[in-house]
Amino acid sequence: MSRLVVISNRVAVPKARGVAGAQGGLAGALNAALKDRGGVWFGWSGQENDEQLGNMDLQRSNGVTTATIDLSKQELDEYYNGYANSTLWPLFHYRIDLARYENKTGESYERVNDRFAESVMPLIEEGDLVWVHDYHLIPLGERLRSRGVKNRIGFFLHTPWPPTRLLTSLPFHERLVKTMLSYDLIGFQTPEWLSSFVHYCENELGAKIDRESGRITHEGRTTIARDYPIGIDWEHFQAEGAKPEAKEAEQRFLASIRGRTGMIGVDRLDYSKGLPERIDGIGRFFDEHPERVRDLVYVQIAPPSREDVQSYQEIREELEQKTGQINGARSEVDLVPIRYVNHGYSHAELYGFFRASKIGLVTPLRDGMNLVAKEYVAAQDPDDPGVLVLSDFAGAAYQLDCDGKGALLVNPHSPDALANALNKALDMPLEERKSRYEAMITTVRDDNVREWTTQFCDDLAKG
Ligand code: G6P
Repeated sequence: MSRLVVISNRVAVPKARGVAGAQGGLAGALNAALKDRGGVWFGWSGQENDEQLGNMDLQRSNGVTTATIDLSKQELDEYYNGYANSTLWPLFHYRIDLARYENKTGESYERVNDRFAESVMPLIEEGDLVWVHDYHLIPLGERLRSRGVKNRIGFFLHTPWPPTRLLTSLPFHERLVKTMLSYDLIGFQTPEWLSSFVHYCENELGAKIDRESGRITHEGRTTIARDYPIGIDWEHFQAEGAKPEAKEAEQRFLASIRGRTGMIGVDRLDYSKGLPERIDGIGRFFDEHPERVRDLVYVQIAPPSREDVQSYQEIREELEQKTGQINGARSEVDLVPIRYVNHGYSHAELYGFFRASKIGLVTPLRDGMNLVAKEYVAAQDPDDPGVLVLSDFAGAAYQLDCDGKGALLVNPHSPDALANALNKALDMPLEERKSRYEAMITTVRDDNVREWTTQFCDDLAKG
């Protein structure tokens, strides 16, 4: 089996591990991939440093070597907060109203990609599979090729890929997409994002497409593009769930809600996650069923994310305001219907909280996949499972809808749809909860992160 060189902006460095929710799905998934295959994980250290920019920090733990570099303040402003998170992230989540375009951040993005390529080059050995991840590093493969790297190089996008007419609002979109054709294999989370990418290549670049095999041929080079839905690290999550911390967390949660029904949401505090819309839906439910306010507690765990970006500051304010309004209107001296927490928890604790919650709310406005949805299902008691209320716009809906027999799919933009789904979930008989759980658990368990890594890496190796 070939060694793997994984390259991503965010690296779960051993000393910083432990808090789930906050790091997003990518870091956890890659950790699992590397543990199995062995190899190197290269990326940003998470540190700002203006003094010794060339230095690389190497750490070894559980067979995985992490190699990280620091970024300067200017690189963080322009590449990470700027082009990656104020241009590409909103655009890829269909929010062109929030996307900002500035030449200087675009140039910095290219320079940082170049610096990543230069720094990782000495770590790549003959025969290694090189696997680049996510929207921060789209041009990296092309930068490696221009330095003579001949290894097989794959790219996986963890976010959605936008429809062509949205993408063409990005200045220099052609330049960006063309660099992707330097990869041997490109993976997307769902058939929907894959089809938007293929549409772009065909219509904007005039590439030749073979839909059956996923081959995209342009200017004499062929790339394969396919969908590879990412899964959770099932074994790790179950092992975490078997720890005493998980049981303690479950009991702590249940004791605190004192016989009421617990509902939970765990999301990075990001506008793509539909948090204010979710709170509106809960508010609508309380308006329609005031008699049920006393029976319910909603816990929203929302670790802040990308706090230097203005749109993230705004979404946080909006969420705080809405939560405060509903709690102000609906609380009693002995009752607060919405609990709002701004920090992350370990996987063991989340397992316990999920198991104690009869409803899991995962209602992003747009999401590449969303592994919280799968973790919620994985943590349920098969004899008395909770109900997953899932956005139709999350990549996970492709797998967890189960022909209408799995999650309750909702339109997250509609407070009425959310309120109706809550009502249905609360009244759902045990038999139906069990059959929905059983429909979902098979894909959550079997289509796990190991399967995902194996499929992607096997395809990358064979070409
Ligand atoms: C999403 C992205 C990841 C990113 C994560 C956390 O899951 O797809 O690439 O690492 O969010 O965001 P952050 O900006 O903290 O790395």
